[in-house]
Parts: sequence; structure tokens; C-alpha cells
Amino acid sequence: MKNRVTKAIFPVAGLGTRFLPATKSVPKEIMTLVDRPLIQYAIDEARAAGIKEFIFVTSRGKSALEDYFDHSPELESALRKKGKTDLLATLKTTNMESGAIAYIRQHRALGLGHAVWCARRLIANEPFAVILPDDVIAAEKPCLQQMVEAHAETGGCMVAAMEVPQDKTSSYGILDVREDHGTIVSMNGMVEKPPAEEAPSNLAVIGRYILTPKVMQHLNKMDRGAGGEVQLTDAIATEIGSGRPVHGYRFRGQRFDCGSKAGFLQATVAFGLARDDLRDEFSQYLDELVSVRNAAQ
Ligand code: UTP
Repeated sequence: MKNRVTKAIFPVAGLGTRFLPATKSVPKEIMTLVDRPLIQYAIDEARAAGIKEFIFVTSRGKSALEDYFDHSPELESALRKKGKTDLLATLKTTNMESGAIAYIRQHRALGLGHAVWCARRLIANEPFAVILPDDVIAAEKPCLQQMVEAHAETGGCMVAAMEVPQDKTSSYGILDVREDHGTIVSMNGMVEKPPAEEAPSNLAVIGRYILTPKVMQHLNKMDRGAGGEVQLTDAIATEIGSGRPVHGYRFRGQRFDCGSKAGFLQATVAFGLARDDLRDEFSQYLDELVSVRNAAQ
């Protein structure tokens, strides 16, 4: 297998303004879908893909995120005494091996590219994954695992890609497609947040990446792109011109944009309905809601 990927960066230093006032004191990544915070979904996906080192790029006000991964001996012993073995097992899935997790500070929110660059010393000279926890992907085989398997064949850089409506291109990094092989796409370039009429395609980058240390070198230049931020997309686009492989990967799965309110609500409904312990009661409630709305129209 080429370039085994064992490190992942989780950039979680953004301001999360779309969820104010909640994000004034609660990091966006701690918000829960049913009963698990967004960050837990991201960590589980990374583990399934074989990631062993978890690097969080955090900022002021994110201490709840660091606490979340601490072991909690008091809670564990209380559950043990009460014989609540199921809850104990659930709690243990949040435990991280000592030394597996590292926290780096991004002192100013200068953009996603800058956040990734902050982790450069921990990445050293290895390929690495980047996971944005607010993109939650429901998939039979976790998205990053699909990508790591495909990356073993292609090497180089790889970005998760998905078709979006043409009028939404200005919210995404968009691929300028050279050859479309279905799952794997080669490209001439990438453009960050182009208006619909200038977008080279409607194939958008979603928050999963496998990158090479070369991308860190491009980020060293600290060029400001769309919105005055240091854009990860721009650094990857620079790599495309280098002759080394950069691919888009059309993943199998459903992506929820949990950084937006509508996406977060949709994910809550989908994950609620996917749960054996909630499905019956919840779907009955939703059916009633729809009947009442239809009757009122
Ligand atoms: P977003 O574009 O969703 O920004 O960042 P945000 O600050 O989290 O949320 P809004 O738009 O203000 O509501 C995408 C990802 O990049 C991280 C965020 O934490 C999120 O995971 N990020 C963004 C950083 O770590 N640092 C930054 O400077 C910017």
C-alpha cells in the first residue's frame, strides 16, 4: 500500500458564527446529533480509516472539546456500580489512547488553510488526512476509509467531491474537471466559492482530504484568497499545477452540512430515524406532523 495515512487534522478553530448565540460558549463541534457530538462522528470515521494520531487545531473557548476526550473515572465508576454496562461501553468509545491526541492553537481565525498549516510540525513529512467535523457523512463504508483505499492506488492528494446545485457553487471549492472516471476525477484546477456563472463545474469539495506535505509548503506562502482568508483550496490548486497527482473522489454516502442550521436539522432527523431505539416513536411523530400540516393547507 502506497503512503499509508495515519495522521488526521481536525480544524475546529472557526468562530461558528452561523450558530450564534449557542457558539458563544459551546463549540460547534460539541453540538449533538441525537446524543453524540459532531466531533465523535468525525473521530469514529477517522478510526475506521486507520488513523492513529488525531491533531486538533483549536482556539480560545474550545476547552469543552478538549475535556470531551478526557477519561472520566468518576462517571465510569458510578455507572459500573449501578450495573449500567451499556452506558459504560458507550462512554468508553469516547476514550482516546494516551498520546494519540494533540491540540494546536490557531491564534486568529485566518482561514481553513491557515488552520491546517498550524499543524505542520506534527505532520512532518507524511501524507495526512483533514476532516471537517461539521460535514457529517452517513455511509455504509465511512467516507475517509473509502478515500484511504482509493488513495492507496493513486497516491498524491485527494479531495472528497460531490455534485451540488449550480446556484450553490459560491458556497464551495469547485473542481475544474479534466477527466471524469466516475468515482475518480482528475482536474485542471480548483476554484474557491465561484459565483454560479463562473463555476467550472458543479462538483464541490466536501470536508475530507488526503494531502501531502507539499500542500503545507504551498500554505507557507500565506496567500490570502476568497474572503481574505488563507484557503486550503488554493494550496491544493497550486499542487495540481505541479504534475503530481491530485484527484477528486466521488464518495458513496449522504453528506449533511452541519455547519448550517438547515443541514444540522436534516441530520438530526436522519440520524434520529436511523436509530433502532428511536425510530418508531420519532417517525410516528413526524407522520402526525405532516398530516396536521397537510390538513391545514
Ligand atoms: P467554516 O467555514 O464552517 O467557518 O469553517 P466556521 O467559523 O466554523 O463557521 P461560521 O461560518 O462562522 O458559521 C470550516 C471548518 O474550518 C475550521 C472550522 O472550525 C470548520 O471546521 N476553521 C475555519 C478553522 O479551524 N480556522 C479558521 O480560521 C477557519
